[in-house]
Amino acid sequence: MTPPNTLGVVLRAAGVALAVDLSDRELPAVIHWGADCGPLGAEAFAALALTGVAPVGPNDMDQPIRLSMLPEEWTGWSGRPGVNGSRAGRAWSPRFRSTAVRLDSTPLTAGVHDAGAGVLEVEAIDEESELALLLSVEMSVSGIVRTRARLTNLADEVYQLDELLLSLPVPASASEILDMAGRWGKERVPQRSMVTIGAHRREGRHGRTGADAATLLSVGEPGFGFARGEVWGVHTGWSGNHVHQVERVSTGVQVLGGGELLLPGEVRLGRDESYESPWVYGAYGEGLDAVARRFHRMLRAREQHPTSPRPVTLNVWEAVYFDHDLDVLVDLAEQAADLGVERFVLDDGWFGSRRDDFSGLGDWTVSADVWPEGLHPLVDRVRALGMQFGLWFEPEMINVDSDLARAHPEWIMATGESLPVESRHQQVLNLGIPACYAFIRDAICAVLDEYDIAYIKWDHNRDLVQAGTLPAGRPGVHAQTLAFYRLVEEIGVRYPELEIESCSSGGARVDLGILEHTDRVWVSDNIDPLDRQQMNRWTTQLVPPEMMGSHIASGRSHTTGRWHDLSFRAATALFGHLGIEWDLRTATDDERAELRTWIDFYKQHRALLHGGDLVRLDHPDDTIAVNGVVAADRSAAVYSYASLARSETVSPGRVRLPGLDPDARYRVVPVVPTPLPSRFTPARWWGFELAPSAVYHGAPVWQEGSEPGVEMSGALLGAAGLMAPLLYPETAVVYAVTRV
Ligand code: DGJ
Repeated sequence: MTPPNTLGVVLRAAGVALAVDLSDRELPAVIHWGADCGPLGAEAFAALALTGVAPVGPNDMDQPIRLSMLPEEWTGWSGRPGVNGSRAGRAWSPRFRSTAVRLDSTPLTAGVHDAGAGVLEVEAIDEESELALLLSVEMSVSGIVRTRARLTNLADEVYQLDELLLSLPVPASASEILDMAGRWGKERVPQRSMVTIGAHRREGRHGRTGADAATLLSVGEPGFGFARGEVWGVHTGWSGNHVHQVERVSTGVQVLGGGELLLPGEVRLGRDESYESPWVYGAYGEGLDAVARRFHRMLRAREQHPTSPRPVTLNVWEAVYFDHDLDVLVDLAEQAADLGVERFVLDDGWFGSRRDDFSGLGDWTVSADVWPEGLHPLVDRVRALGMQFGLWFEPEMINVDSDLARAHPEWIMATGESLPVESRHQQVLNLGIPACYAFIRDAICAVLDEYDIAYIKWDHNRDLVQAGTLPAGRPGVHAQTLAFYRLVEEIGVRYPELEIESCSSGGARVDLGILEHTDRVWVSDNIDPLDRQQMNRWTTQLVPPEMMGSHIASGRSHTTGRWHDLSFRAATALFGHLGIEWDLRTATDDERAELRTWIDFYKQHRALLHGGDLVRLDHPDDTIAVNGVVAADRSAAVYSYASLARSETVSPGRVRLPGLDPDARYRVVPVVPTPLPSRFTPARWWGFELAPSAVYHGAPVWQEGSEPGVEMSGALLGAAGLMAPLLYPETAVVYAVTRV
């Protein structure tokens, strides 16, 4: 028999269930988040709730601690509270009571409501603290849960909010942590540790997402991998200061948490003013691939998700840097068009006095010195060649040596009279000041109105340090982040066809906050394929391949100085939104021919690469990396097998190709552009033993009489796999797989 005041909601989608107890007008408490065990009626729900109640131990609180999604101190919870703030030392331990509960806008008062994907909203109030709350919990069709809260001050006296942390409980079996670290040019480096008593708290204090952002903080069964072990992850969708954490308290309870990190006094609410938290995402799956695929599906389901094929892009940054010369750029454009490139992007250096990175930021008018006729001759030529034109901006930044800084020094973010320490010789422009916001918006729009621009690379090249708003110098990161979102959104509404890439010193602004407004991220300034194997692999934990800028650079990496074969550069870049960032004038005819082959391959397979399911292989030998994309209907797949370093064994042996339909038969064909690099020995199943003069042009041309590759069932490919070829370190091979 269910108590009459029971109120429960179960959200379920794609194999995930979130059961939420809202009984007795308390804040929502998650009583199960994990595998979907089928519909929950009132009795099953009551049993689930009852069987989760912890015994009261000696010297504990006299009643079990009820952990809500915004954990409250009054319950006896000794971890971090959900709402942290006060009115100068008062109203610091709120006790909320719900006043309304809605499921997909329908009010609920009692009973257990088993829904599919949907939106749960809870309104609550604490009359004593004079605070009101609106908590939203959404289950997307891909099984991702997201939650956010709006806190309103109902009193005359100012309420200072110090932190709003949203929490999702995870079982104690999730004892291992995986999150990400990183730095400029080496973003999203995975790191593992164990859950211990206390908080593993990752703070992002860069005023942007940060190259070292946790990105997705996951906890799982010990040894969890791409395909194995239950995993729960949290992501804070916010491009400013933020927190990810897992906290385990001595009662044995552990929670994942996320929210914005607020600077001292940054949020002070006057009467009826509200603070809205970022969305905090929770993802559950059996293995990291399942989690990644949920994020991909969720992003692909967005209304604004790009539907046109992701155009092969040429970005001229590593070809010319600041050295803009019309003839050279037209030459590059012509060569690019000839290779099949579809979008040409002019990077930094086209405006104001920007001949290097010491000056000009903020002056968004085309430089008459370098471009006497404006960008028209270049844009016109690019368009005539049938390519889209893209342009670089860095709207939130300013050089002190700029006309804008001379006219409006008060628009620079600072805490007082002295300016913050410079980074890349620049300061931060305060978009939180309405006049400054309008000025920058209008300057960008003037350029977009004048030229036929399909795409903006929106850069942001420094951390926010002492980012205050003058004259008082109060912290301004929160307002700056919101103003940035507003600006991207406003420009998006005004130019609905325009695509925007989020770039920040490479990959320092990769999060689901900015991905609500943009179409791709620049993964890293480092295009070295060896490093990109790691960075692309871990960026796909959150971002689908089609939203990751992934370029083929010159043979010698500008960041690491390492040399790599074109086949390794291409096989790595293929699994993203493909581009070229290489001075094509220096490419040989052979390289051009091979590049064309890879571009053709990308175009033939991009629907699959950009719509399929990601798979990454768990393999004990960390000198190899296997990843692939399998079509949703399992009719085809593309994999890459990369050798990252020399192993202590000659061969890793058979390598599995996961994710195929076990009941179907497939042909697996190595994609071998010409000339076959001398750097490996093919596996026998390839269909030849001596290096042939094979050319891949849509279908590979093989030696007379030989059938390319091998035919096997999906079951065998997944369970037994195929012998690996012998590759030199830092080379890769691509397999094209089709159902027969
Ligand atoms: C940093 C970016 O990540 C690079 O790709 C390039 O756009 C430069 N900024 C330009 O200043």
